[in-house]
Amino acid sequence: MISSYKNDHENTIFTIHTANTTYQMKADWYGTLLHTYYGKRVPDGDLSYIIEYPAPSFSGHSHIARTSWNYSPDTYPQECSTFGCGDFRTTMIAVRNTDGSRGLELCYVDSEITEGKYSIKGLPAFYGDKDEAQTLRITLKDRVYDIYVHLYYGVIDKYDIITRYAVIENKSGAEIKLEKALSMNLDIQFGKFDTITFHGRHTSEREFCRETVEPGRRSVGSLRGASSHQFSPFAILCSHDATEEAGECYGFNFVYSGNFLWEVEYEQMRQTRVVMGINPENFCYILADGETFETPEVAMSFSNEGLGKLSRNYHKAIRNNLCRGKYKLARRPSLINNWEGTYMDFTGDKLVSMAEDASKLGIELFVMDDGWFGKRDTDTSGLGDWVVNEKKLGCTLSELAERIKATGMKFGIWFEPECISEDSDLFRAHPDWALTMPNRGPVRSRTQLVLDFAREDVREYILNSLIKVLESADISYVKWDFNRHICDVYSNAFPAEKQGEINHRYILGLYDMLEKLTSRFPDILFESCSGGGGRFDCGMLYYMPQVWCSDDTDPVERTKIQYGTSFGFPSCTVASHVSASPNHQTGRVTSLKTRGNLATSGMYGVELDINKMTDEEKVGISEQVARYKELADLVMSGDYYRLTSPYDVKEPFACWEFVREDGSEAWVVDIYLRTVANRYPAFVKIRGLIPDAQYRINGSNETYSGASLMYCGIKLLHRWGEYYSDSYHITLA
Ligand code: GLA
Repeated sequence: MISSYKNDHENTIFTIHTANTTYQMKADWYGTLLHTYYGKRVPDGDLSYIIEYPAPSFSGHSHIARTSWNYSPDTYPQECSTFGCGDFRTTMIAVRNTDGSRGLELCYVDSEITEGKYSIKGLPAFYGDKDEAQTLRITLKDRVYDIYVHLYYGVIDKYDIITRYAVIENKSGAEIKLEKALSMNLDIQFGKFDTITFHGRHTSEREFCRETVEPGRRSVGSLRGASSHQFSPFAILCSHDATEEAGECYGFNFVYSGNFLWEVEYEQMRQTRVVMGINPENFCYILADGETFETPEVAMSFSNEGLGKLSRNYHKAIRNNLCRGKYKLARRPSLINNWEGTYMDFTGDKLVSMAEDASKLGIELFVMDDGWFGKRDTDTSGLGDWVVNEKKLGCTLSELAERIKATGMKFGIWFEPECISEDSDLFRAHPDWALTMPNRGPVRSRTQLVLDFAREDVREYILNSLIKVLESADISYVKWDFNRHICDVYSNAFPAEKQGEINHRYILGLYDMLEKLTSRFPDILFESCSGGGGRFDCGMLYYMPQVWCSDDTDPVERTKIQYGTSFGFPSCTVASHVSASPNHQTGRVTSLKTRGNLATSGMYGVELDINKMTDEEKVGISEQVARYKELADLVMSGDYYRLTSPYDVKEPFACWEFVREDGSEAWVVDIYLRTVANRYPAFVKIRGLIPDAQYRINGSNETYSGASLMYCGIKLLHRWGEYYSDSYHITLA
């Protein structure tokens, strides 16, 4: 619920209430838009009594306040901070005016409240119709030039989500340069906080990192042209005492797949500022008179019931108000992917024989991964030539799809549309279509280059090649991969002064392509991938409802990867596969059961040479597939609880739970990450059950009340050996 009114001092107070939170701002006497409060829901009323105007020496005093020496942009809490007019902190927007000055001083103009949530043309965004969401627009204008900033707030009340983005509009009569255009600014006047960020590398994404906020700036971000494996564009600011169950937590989820910055500054007055948006490094957007720039959106959420509740807010909102299409809420098919089974060394007959075995075990979809097109027997060639290699397959794509379907399975296929091999017909014909800098040799990564998706002609060519393939056979699934990052950011199609726009234009081009492709093939399940989870972000999830979470399929490693992912993203977005043991990334040996429990905690698949499995292993897979079909709905739509942390060095095991919102069913999984001698017993307390109801565990005869399972807990089974995992299906008796 959004409201605004003028108080007795002619200040306009804007209040946003969600189910459990309140966000308040005020446009003050001078027209400055100040931030008042974001936190647990409080009753209506002007909270701006709390605003303090500290007046430290060496902070600039705003000329508009004349004799108020303590009125400084450097210290008062702001809603949209700008560089150059007195604020020395990290800021949200920096404009280079046509006269060369770098300054912007914003003043309130007007506002509007509308029903339903805004959308952003050309960019992904959470959505919500008028029954569930509202929009607040607040327009600010520079005190000197006709440069406007329209701040938009989208409110999805029931999930405690407040989204923000800004439109910068140049009506100044001259060209300006946007040198920094972030999406949000949040100033918190007091409190001691920790940051929780998620970092990593290829095959080791979203490692959990909690740090105390100390004086200075702490930032994470990406300059890789993708949201990246290295840092997630989801981050948390929480009180020192925040746990899974208690404490104050703010979440920031960037709905964008390219370069980003999340920065926290703890400054001289012990205030904390958080900004997030497109990374200003290598960014400079030229706005001619009359042009506008739309920033991507940040989805914020607040919980005063700890990190678990914060995550569940995001899980629900992403599932219901970000993901789209036929598969948004539908159970995803169990699949087999041939990548770790064969890599690029396969024939059509081999794939069909894998499909025959997989189908008998109940698996529903066969995915043909990399290596089916152009000249592609190694990763040194072929990208860009999206022409079926019929010699390798021994038949046409349509015939292969029919052969797979005859085994009883659906058929899916892999693409990497954004990249190009120098050894490809496409590169020989259009070397200028790759992003490379003039007069310099290209920077190669996995021996490939990146296509210039900022260019419409390049996108159109690739889109048409994909459409041709997808229309040539009965295809139910597409894995969209991106296997390198972008360093030589230079487009031949744009003039020198516009090269600072290319990173962003690339992402806009990617989104344009994804929108066209996914709307043309509404029945296809699209899965996003970038060397595993290198682009696990809300931007991609708007087009594709699931992501190949990591190229690391080792269940022990996956425990940490899926744990980190769960803070910002729901299980229905996490594709997870059973692969061979010893594992291909780590060499670790684990049981089929352990691998199955990890895969069933996401969208289940198998990724190995099923023809080589023993009969006993095949029975194990068929049992897992049957269980996945039974549990997938609970895993997709249930409430997720992290019962323990795999980072807790004092505990050898990790444990998590999916429970239906009404408490009628739960599935709890544990995994032992270390083996210890003389092991002490392990217990966990189950969450989210109905206290008075009676439950059974794994169909046993004994029954337990929900209260006993929640408050007294359960004993985890004690098994011998390494990396064992058990699961506990808790159903109403
Ligand atoms: C990436 C993906 C893998 C596989 C290979 C194919 O690494 O993450 O799953 O598709 O590319 O080259």
